[in-house]
Amino acid sequence: MTVATDPVSGTSAKRPAHFTLADDEIAAKFPNRLRGFDLYRKMGSPKHIVAPMVDQSELAWRMLSRNYGADLCYTPMFHAKMFGDENPKYRDEQWQTNETDKPVIVQFCANDPDALLAAAKLVVGQADAVDLNLGCPQHIARRGHYGSYLMEDWELVSRLIRKLHENLDIPVTAKIRVFPELDKTVAYAKMVEAAGAQIITVHGRLREQKGHKTGLADWAKIKAVKDAVSVPVFANGNILYFEDIQRCIDATNVDGVMSAETNLYNPALFSGKVVPTWQMAEEYLEICNNVSTKSAFIRAHLFKLFRYSLPVHVDLRQRLAEARDMDEYWQFARDIKCRLKADADAESTPFDPDAVLTDEFGYRKYPHWICQPALRFEHDKEHSKSKRLLNEAQVDATETGNTSPTDQQHDLKEGNEDTGNSGAKRQKTVVDNCIA
Ligand SMILES: Cc1cc2nc3c(=O)[nH]c(=O)nc-3n(C[C@H](O)[C@H](O)[C@H](O)COP(=O)(O)O)c2cc1C
Repeated sequence: MTVATDPVSGTSAKRPAHFTLADDEIAAKFPNRLRGFDLYRKMGSPKHIVAPMVDQSELAWRMLSRNYGADLCYTPMFHAKMFGDENPKYRDEQWQTNETDKPVIVQFCANDPDALLAAAKLVVGQADAVDLNLGCPQHIARRGHYGSYLMEDWELVSRLIRKLHENLDIPVTAKIRVFPELDKTVAYAKMVEAAGAQIITVHGRLREQKGHKTGLADWAKIKAVKDAVSVPVFANGNILYFEDIQRCIDATNVDGVMSAETNLYNPALFSGKVVPTWQMAEEYLEICNNVSTKSAFIRAHLFKLFRYSLPVHVDLRQRLAEARDMDEYWQFARDIKCRLKADADAESTPFDPDAVLTDEFGYRKYPHWICQPALRFEHDKEHSKSKRLLNEAQVDATETGNTSPTDQQHDLKEGNEDTGNSGAKRQKTVVDNCIA
């Protein structure tokens, strides 16, 4: 009998009852299905990963992100029960892919292993893997008992993953949040791995770190998970600039870095390129000309891309709010481009992407018409100064072997209780979305 990790304690124990097949039996059942690092390598060893984002990591956005260095994209989270329903309306509306959309991982939320399997089977042949969302902290997830609200129900988490691992033709992966306790976080990740997850994404924030309490992701916990499991690990949280990606890899030793919000505000993040917002909007709309995309998704993307320009050109904000079809989005894009080019021309010294100044907190001072991460309030910047320094310190500490999780936890606590809106995630304009 195979000895596995107990789904409740995370310690070695006899195989749990819901592990109906042993590892060798699973390997024999799916001889061609890739595991762990083989899956990772088959996907091209992705380092730059677009996060699952409800209503925002849709096909057109994934295509745009891939044009700017994204190596792997996750779909938005789909509700497994609705997706697998006999009525295909939800599925057809939510799930689109094409031959350029590779590699792609389809994410589901679920609390019923059979419903999860039924939904997952529908994407076999179109996706590289299926991901289980174990991070969504929103009220809707509490009511529906999924996402991060499964963090108390390790057996259910294990049953969900195991169901796919024992029955699905493609691999299963999982995206988790962290617990306050490092040991518990590691035990949880090991349980997820033992159940069959072939890649684990660790969003280094607690379930409580959402909305105005988002704060800083804890890279030390991500590193601890990476050290403890044998499957590839993706880190998620605290990425504002291209350079943060390598800092994160250095600090955590992860196999890839996932970004959500910064990707939305600056889809060129993974390329390191500095791109005018009007150009990015045109490229996105060009894709939407050919790939039918829900109007609400397009509008939401344009609002984010032009986040810093709409307060300058307030009349255009209203126009965008009222836009409903491609003609209106294009007209808006043309008009704002004229205004922003005029703004750029009016600057006394032409913008030089290689000579961008930073403010006293270390944030880059881009003109409003350049794609850039969103920082919400001035006071957040002030509060998060320590966070950027902290992450920098983490890299040094890792190099010298002196990482101090205690300091970081203190900082996190401060972030939650003071301004309540700090860390590298001040840009929370999407609190109504599923910020898993
Ligand atoms: C608009 C939006 C939608 C999101 N939807 C999902 C989702 O569908 N599934 C999921 O696992 N996480 C979702 N998240 C959370 C992100 O995947 C990510 O874990 C989180 O934002 C932290 O990463 P960041 O610091 O790069 O933003 C969403 C985040 C945003 C901003």
